[in-house]
Amino acid sequence: MKIAIFGSSGTIGAAITRRYQYHYPECEIHTFSRQQDQSNRLHHTIDYTDELSIKTAAEISFQNIPFDIIFVATGHYLPLLPRDRRGVFAALSARVGSISDNQLGGWYAYRASKAALNMILKNAAIEAARRYKLSVVVGLHPGTVDSSLSKPFQGNVREGKLFGPEYAADHLIRVIDNLTPDQSGKCFAWDGSEIPA
Ligand SMILES: NC(=O)c1ccc[n+]([C@@H]2O[C@H](COP(=O)([O-])OP(=O)(O)OC[C@H]3O[C@@H](n4cnc5c(N)ncnc54)[C@H](OP(=O)(O)O)[C@@H]3O)[C@@H](O)[C@H]2O)c1
Repeated sequence: MKIAIFGSSGTIGAAITRRYQYHYPECEIHTFSRQQDQSNRLHHTIDYTDELSIKTAAEISFQNIPFDIIFVATGHYLPLLPRDRRGVFAALSARVGSISDNQLGGWYAYRASKAALNMILKNAAIEAARRYKLSVVVGLHPGTVDSSLSKPFQGNVREGKLFGPEYAADHLIRVIDNLTPDQSGKCFAWDGSEIPA
């Protein structure tokens, strides 16, 4: 199995990388982020604000196709999926990207960016299904995970609801393992439940 993980240096991305290595020790994992990772000889640098670096990362990726699982990433990476078997393209979204589930307000830019991501994933799922019949394109909500991103909001989290990154990663890997092509285009939480659009 071949896996590409974009944002592998982040709290959740690093945990996903470690837990894939643990669950599937034989798999080949290509990691992408701005920060260097000396521990993985298949690490590649990417900066989303630098078009040349995106192009270079895309070229490296194409030299290694197909990937069975692509975690995070953008629409540019859909052609890396296999055509003859199931391939998963999963991006970390968030429950706050759900328009119908919004009961609190606030977080304008974050909510809007995740709602937009979910729409991009829906579009990508429709287009991917034309060429990659067994593809699964989804957004994933990891739960509230202890990272620098969630630090400012952790005071509001109920006891027992702040997940460690490994706990979240293990749940997300299980969700990915069980996804089927008819679920493509949707968003799922860490426990496998579907998050409404
Ligand atoms: N933590 C939570 O509770 C929670 C809840 C719901 C959803 N999420 C989602 O999960 C994702 C990861 O969150 P996290 O908590 O793991 O945050 P984090 O630890 O801050 O990780 C962020 C990742 O994004 C990468 N990144 C940032 N700017 C980049 C750029 N210009 N180019 C390329 N890569 C860039 C970073 O890598 P480099 O710095 O090496 O480039 C890092 O790998 C986010 O999309 C977040 O919205 C998190």
